[in-house]
Amino acid sequence: MSLEFSLSEQVVLVTGGGRGIGSAICAQFAASGAHVVVNYSRSAAASEALVSEIIGRGGSAEALCFDVSDPDAVDEGIKGIVARHGRLDVLVNNAGVAIDGLLARTKVDDWKRTIDINLSGVFYCSKAVSRQMMKQRSGAIINISSVIGETGNAGQVAYSASKSGLFGLTKSLARELGSRGVTVNAVTPGYITTDMTSGMGEDATRSLLEKVPLGRLGQPEDIAGVVLFLASPYARYMTGQIVGVNGGMAM
Ligand SMILES: NC(=O)c1ccc[n+]([C@@H]2O[C@H](COP(=O)([O-])OP(=O)(O)OC[C@H]3O[C@@H](n4cnc5c(N)ncnc54)[C@H](OP(=O)(O)O)[C@@H]3O)[C@@H](O)[C@H]2O)c1
Repeated sequence: MSLEFSLSEQVVLVTGGGRGIGSAICAQFAASGAHVVVNYSRSAAASEALVSEIIGRGGSAEALCFDVSDPDAVDEGIKGIVARHGRLDVLVNNAGVAIDGLLARTKVDDWKRTIDINLSGVFYCSKAVSRQMMKQRSGAIINISSVIGETGNAGQVAYSASKSGLFGLTKSLARELGSRGVTVNAVTPGYITTDMTSGMGEDATRSLLEKVPLGRLGQPEDIAGVVLFLASPYARYMTGQIVGVNGGMAM
């Protein structure tokens, strides 16, 4: 994809950037000239491999381990980025887990873990970067929610609640930070081909595709392009928006 802007000089943090949608987002930002911080919690090897790949292509990146559900680790990680680079321009809150199950079978611990990572993790990371972005009087925060946050889904009560929670967080933060030149938006992907959806059987995939006007599952790159757009000058008058990227599955 060739675009008429460059993000060189910009520092971008992508949580859960080592694999799946996060890794496509990292690659897209790096191709646009940004320095990319690839956060991971478990996928050290994949994250280091992605960093090497980006550097091999002439880009700039580093891997950084912290668990988004640990507020002290988040603070320390983000303070380190600002100390090393002097700025932080874009935060993509991408890290997430899906622990599926009907309500009756959902354990309290699964509920808590889902909320801790998918919702509280976004709060911790956004709070930590907002200090620097307010000081800079510029920045973009992009939250990766889900179409399931909009429509709900049987068997995904915890996941859906965590992703709907991001709508309120996104809109409230957009109102708080707008006057400081910081935009806050959310993206709601449909079904994207990653480890998260790899367990879907053929029958489930077929019946899902009947509801997708574009007739295919999404690819991580389909999300990455929209995230890049939201961080670019082309989206400078957009904030507090929930942007659906789902092949038309929800409209
Ligand atoms: N795939 C879809 O169809 C789909 C649809 C809608 C929304 N989404 C959302 O898109 C985002 C990425 O999903 P994906 O499909 O790429 O899933 P994935 O392939 O399962 O990847 C999940 C990512 O989240 C990271 N992560 C999980 N827990 C973490 C933690 N505590 N701290 C830091 N990172 C953590 C993982 O990093 P480690 O391996 O290092 O832990 C990994 O990079 C998620 O928020 C997901 O809910 C996905």
